[in-house]
Amino acid sequence: MDQQYAFAIAEREYLLRTKKSREMYKAAQRVMPGGDTRTTVFFSPYPITVNSGGGPELQDIDGNRYLDFLNNYTSTIHGHAHPKILQKVNHALTFGTSYASVIEEQITLAEILSERVPGIQRVRFCNSGSEATMFAIRAARAFTNRAGLIKMDGGYHGTHETVQSEFSSAQQAPVSMGIPVHVTQDVYVVPFNDLEAVERLLIQRANEIAAILVEPVMGAAGVIPPQPGYLTGLRELANKYDVILIFDEVQTLRLSTGGAQSKYQVTPDLTALGKIIGGGFPVGAYGGRADIMSLFDPAQSKPLSHGGTFNGNRITMVAGIASMELLDEQAITHLDKLGQRLESRMLETIERFAVPASITRAGSLLNVHFTVTPPIDYSSTHSSCKDLAKLLHLELLNRGIYTAPRGMWNLSTVMTEIHIDQAVEAFSDSMQLIAKCLQQ
Ligand SMILES: Cc1ncc(COP(=O)(O)O)c(C=O)c1O
Repeated sequence: MDQQYAFAIAEREYLLRTKKSREMYKAAQRVMPGGDTRTTVFFSPYPITVNSGGGPELQDIDGNRYLDFLNNYTSTIHGHAHPKILQKVNHALTFGTSYASVIEEQITLAEILSERVPGIQRVRFCNSGSEATMFAIRAARAFTNRAGLIKMDGGYHGTHETVQSEFSSAQQAPVSMGIPVHVTQDVYVVPFNDLEAVERLLIQRANEIAAILVEPVMGAAGVIPPQPGYLTGLRELANKYDVILIFDEVQTLRLSTGGAQSKYQVTPDLTALGKIIGGGFPVGAYGGRADIMSLFDPAQSKPLSHGGTFNGNRITMVAGIASMELLDEQAITHLDKLGQRLESRMLETIERFAVPASITRAGSLLNVHFTVTPPIDYSSTHSSCKDLAKLLHLELLNRGIYTAPRGMWNLSTVMTEIHIDQAVEAFSDSMQLIAKCLQQ
């Protein structure tokens, strides 16, 4: 079967299943540019409109049910409407939701995070992962009195200018329009898993560089794990050249009770957090060494300012505490076992149908790539055939499996082996079809 024909059939089936979502998309377009208020939620021909979520499932307004392997891009680690989180939030709501004051729950969540995450001695809350990386970078710049930032090619750290300012050599312009060129001049981009590239930069510019910013496992770039010794190597380079090491653990905190830094036994100077620590509500946090974080101490004569009307609001804190309590070692072992099962069954399928695809995985985060060998950095994901990824995404949707259009899957603690096997069946049927297209 021809690939374009297969795509047309899949799209036709999607249109028939999601008529009300299509109407919603048209209504949304009248009031939001492109019918969207979050770029990553869009996919062609139009995204589904979700009506409700419960446990591991989503339901759209046409009544279709999906097993949710996207989990709001790794945030809803306990699935949807978890009874323990709901009960705590419902109770908290009766006390009012946010006040301009400290509340006890902030201290409780801060204690949980600093007990669990080795690199966190002090922590502050904000409302998104973007703010978390922004303030971690600002702290590093203030502490070192330098502006330079080393970041990894393809590394996603949110929406603020510094982290979206990767210079595109093809276009001779920042990747994101609207970012002034002078912002890009302090950002140095190197490939992930390449220690030599980092050291070359540090040899040339150590006295201009404030920090190295890295996701211990690259998330948006394609769930790319660090090669053995890479994170330790970054730690050693940061020590040798006296720069701050920042781990962006917005996605990777789920890899152990103490995050990727515990799993890989490398302690950064600063850590950015988000997603799962809010129990499904908007959140971010950044923390680290007490001497660096003390810059934010407002009792000082010249503190580093960190505002935010909803920082540490009661609902997020209460839901976050419940989410972290639910995410104990047993829960993480459960997630990792399901991740192993999903990966091994997917690999069997790939082999059975001889599709040129590979899987990368860390714990309960996984990515399907249309490359023969698993990518080790962002540029090695590029050979991945984007059209096949789109076809797989649509085929999975039509079979009731909700994943990221780019091929990322992640698991929630309310999933069981039954859900994994259901997903593998859908994956297998979709890959069989893709194999037929490739034989053309
Ligand atoms: C690694 C990483 N850092 C930062 C962010 C930004 O978080 P938020 O969307 O909450 O601003 C994300 C979001 O996907 C992320 O994956």
